[in-house]
Amino acid sequence: KDHSWKRRAPLQECRASRCPAGRGQQRMDARSLMLTLATATSTAALRALSPLNSHCATVAAVPACRVASRRMSIASGSRVITGDKGNNVTPYIEALIGRNLHTQANHPLGIIKSKIEDYFQSLQGDIKFEIRDSMDPVVNAKECFDDLLIPANHPGRKPSDTYYISRPGGRDVSSSEDRLLRTHTSAHQSTLIASGVEAFLCTGDVYRRDEIDASHFPAFHQMEGVKLFDPAAVGGEMDREEWLASEGCQLVAADLKKTLEGLCDHLFGEVEKRWIDEYFPFTEPSFELEIFYNGDWMEVLGCGVIHSGVLDKCGKSERHGWAFGLGLERLAMVLFSIPDIRLFWTLDERFLRQFKAGTLSTFKPYSKYPPCFKDVSFWLPDDFEPNDFFELGRSVAGELLEKVDLVDEFTNPKKAKTSHCYRLTYRSMDRSLTDDEINALQETIRQRLASELMVELR
Ligand code: DAH
Repeated sequence: KDHSWKRRAPLQECRASRCPAGRGQQRMDARSLMLTLATATSTAALRALSPLNSHCATVAAVPACRVASRRMSIASGSRVITGDKGNNVTPYIEALIGRNLHTQANHPLGIIKSKIEDYFQSLQGDIKFEIRDSMDPVVNAKECFDDLLIPANHPGRKPSDTYYISRPGGRDVSSSEDRLLRTHTSAHQSTLIASGVEAFLCTGDVYRRDEIDASHFPAFHQMEGVKLFDPAAVGGEMDREEWLASEGCQLVAADLKKTLEGLCDHLFGEVEKRWIDEYFPFTEPSFELEIFYNGDWMEVLGCGVIHSGVLDKCGKSERHGWAFGLGLERLAMVLFSIPDIRLFWTLDERFLRQFKAGTLSTFKPYSKYPPCFKDVSFWLPDDFEPNDFFELGRSVAGELLEKVDLVDEFTNPKKAKTSHCYRLTYRSMDRSLTDDEINALQETIRQRLASELMVELR
């Protein structure tokens, strides 16, 4: 599953790489590193709140976890669980909003953020990067997609990949008015540029429906950086072809590369780097920066020269500049040796007390309780989306569900039906889970799979 904006040019194959912890090689070996966290919020409380506990046979055509929570929303007056058309935010996700981990000085995410900001503040020149930490994660599709030239049919806009608050046209109809949890901090680029900010670092929590393992969590943090240039130095309004062929464009790209190479050295010490040509709809040309770290190439960020079309839409046709976006968890997992992305959300003092503002330290794992594995097999309905299953698992078991792997898949040609078998790994880090407790969770997941996702259990 790939939600990434890159390699999404028409006719281009997409590649799995949106994982906050990096590509394949950065996907921690979950077997050797498996470890869980204390629940960030009480899963039991969330479970009690979930309106999806009772099944929803009346909406058989649309899986219940895609329609979210009508009854609940009305009761709670929630901003993100509204029961509006297309609303698919669950109480579990709602509880993650507003934690502001990136603004906590002694939290690994806050430490990395400050370190990056220090670097940009230290750069020579008259440009001052404005810090924006508290932009609202609720945005509309215009900001998150249209302003960035991401087309209406882009896979990242599908309700299987994105948390929607409302889609006025209905669940499957994309429009500029859709309201959603931002899927990247690029969602604020155009607003900030249009408002006259010349250079900024904008950090925040972003949300994507996704699989479950040590490097994927439905919420993570990104930082977006933008710098505009003086038209006297790089040129003003010109058509796109002319701009791309110009010296000004070369100059902006060179400044971008020099700046970001410096950032890598600042974070990792002097490291070997390489530039990869990339595709993002909102930059042209686009690049990805990789560093050689711990014996392997690791993707650090995506970036590029801001697409003329993006600046035109901001009413800034006469301006040019660069932009980059990076995932804070990916960097923090590597720099602090944090083996599981869910640890960032824990309130456990054994985690939190290990980190101090300004210091990159090595995380010492503090406990390992045994995992428990449970398999579930079922025949898929026609429109089955694995992300709906993962979302359901999170709603039932919260952080006790450490990992979900597809372990078997086959198609019966006679019946023209496909079966999936998933292995669910349960584990708590505070305590040993009892058989009864896990069996109850597994049974609830099985029942809800059948009643809400319309699968045929085997
Ligand atoms: N928004 C992109 C993502 O979430 C990351 C990104 C790439 C941001 C290139 C940028 C950029 O500003 O220029 O994958």
